[in-house]
Amino acid sequence: MRTLHLGLVIALASGLAAILIYITGVSNSNGVSGVSEEDLSALMALQTGFKKCVKANGLGLQAVGGKDYCQVTLQYPSDTVPKWRDPKNGELEGLSFDLNLCDALATWEQVRNSSTILTKEYIDALPYGWEEYAWRRINKGTLLNRCENKTLCMEKLSLVLPDTPPFVPRQYSRCAVIGNSGDLLKTNFGEEIDGYDAVFRENGAPIQNYTKYVGKKSTFRLLNRGSAKALDKVAELDETKKEVLIIKTTIHDIMSKMIREVPIRNPVYLLLGTSFGSSAKGTGPKTLELALSICDTVDIYGFTVDPGYKEWTRYFSESRQGHTPLHGRAYFQMMECLGLIKIHSPMRADFNRIVEWLPNKSILYAARVASEKLLRRAGAGMADPWSACSMIKKRDKGKIPYKSGLREAAVNHQKYVKGATMYPLERNFGNGMLCMVPD
Ligand SMILES: *[C@@H]1O[C@H](CO)[C@@H](O)[C@H](O)[C@H]1NC(C)=O
Ligand SMILES: *[C@@H]1O[C@H](CO)[C@@H](O)[C@H](O)[C@H]1NC(C)=O
Ligand SMILES: *[C@@H]1O[C@H](CO)[C@@H](O)[C@H](O)[C@H]1NC(C)=O
Ligand SMILES: *[C@@H]1O[C@H](CO)[C@@H](O)[C@H](O)[C@H]1NC(C)=O
Repeated sequence: MRTLHLGLVIALASGLAAILIYITGVSNSNGVSGVSEEDLSALMALQTGFKKCVKANGLGLQAVGGKDYCQVTLQYPSDTVPKWRDPKNGELEGLSFDLNLCDALATWEQVRNSSTILTKEYIDALPYGWEEYAWRRINKGTLLNRCENKTLCMEKLSLVLPDTPPFVPRQYSRCAVIGNSGDLLKTNFGEEIDGYDAVFRENGAPIQNYTKYVGKKSTFRLLNRGSAKALDKVAELDETKKEVLIIKTTIHDIMSKMIREVPIRNPVYLLLGTSFGSSAKGTGPKTLELALSICDTVDIYGFTVDPGYKEWTRYFSESRQGHTPLHGRAYFQMMECLGLIKIHSPMRADFNRIVEWLPNKSILYAARVASEKLLRRAGAGMADPWSACSMIKKRDKGKIPYKSGLREAAVNHQKYVKGATMYPLERNFGNGMLCMVPD
């Protein structure tokens, strides 16, 4: 018993040393304040569970511990043949990927409690919000000269810029995010997908003629620049005209005109441009960001996540430029083993599949708080939800976020945050949030 205890202390001490080195390496600070032994053992428990989870669910992927409790390396079997080449330098994609569990836990938790839709109150609240931020969201923005004429700028954004968030955290219970991978045609997921409370799709993904595989329901659609330019075509993909279209890049100069004149009846919004600093790129992770910010649980379909799948076609067309598929697969596996998403694919087609060795809620919670402290996130480990706000602004009277007929979970969250809306801030404002609070 005594030796065990001593062993633990030594392990913790060396772990602390490793983390200290890591922290000084990344932030130039001198020491870690408020990180306790409990925090370190929480991170240790997380990493132990995480490795087992990846082994049990990753179809050949292995997680190996790195230089401290936050770092893990996800490795593919050595006989994996990478096929994707970086067009910039012609290099083949590697077989191992370094991921930071602490950063992922803290960052995705922040996503879950924030608004990810761009609003007018957000731009108004930022110092130089119009001059520095708004005009960059409009294609040919340079002609607008930093929104010198704010009226003109507001006009361009008016139809896609709500005053307050149209959606709130936990608004939906079970959500499905549908990627465009060709392997969707291998399984009839359609009925299953239609059983979710909200379904998220991407770009020009068709529904008609493919419902057996991809379902009919479509609640949100995230658009890149190319799809946004063809907004009228995209709006035709969903017959209900209720699908919410969310543009993740800049809007076209003539977007408002197009919405008014075509006319496009679907609600259209912009995704908040702030990067949460996660290492994930592309439309897929952005759609997950949106889904996790308004859903209790998120399941994914149609992402290329099975070993041996290297056709990289879309389910509706032959060609595809696909990028970093092995990195993507590793990143999604990490998300699954952190309890953020559940993966469905031809090789994981059993709807009732259990994610084995998923670290339990208490481990995830303790490790998340420890991560926030390590990363010096504003409000780490504090009970007051507003302690994460590095900027607090009172919301204009009479302007209230969406809130009719909300689910109990969403209402409870609103109570927890005392009616505040939290928006992520760019890194140069620190790691905190902008909070719009009731007057
Ligand atoms: C600013 O833009 C508005 C709307 O297009 C226009 O009516 C107004 O004349 C512009 N003001 C200036 C000073 O250019
Ligand atoms: C579905 O198939 C029909 C008949 O082949 C075709 O006319 C239609 O354009 C297809 N729809 C989509 C969205 O591809
Ligand atoms: C979570 O897992 C840890 C370690 O496996 C265990 O000690 C703890 O009792 C579990 N907590 C719950 C609530 O199941
Ligand atoms: C996010 O909100 C939940 C309540 O819905 C709360 O338990 C959790 O601590 C919050 N996370 C952060 C980082 O504020």
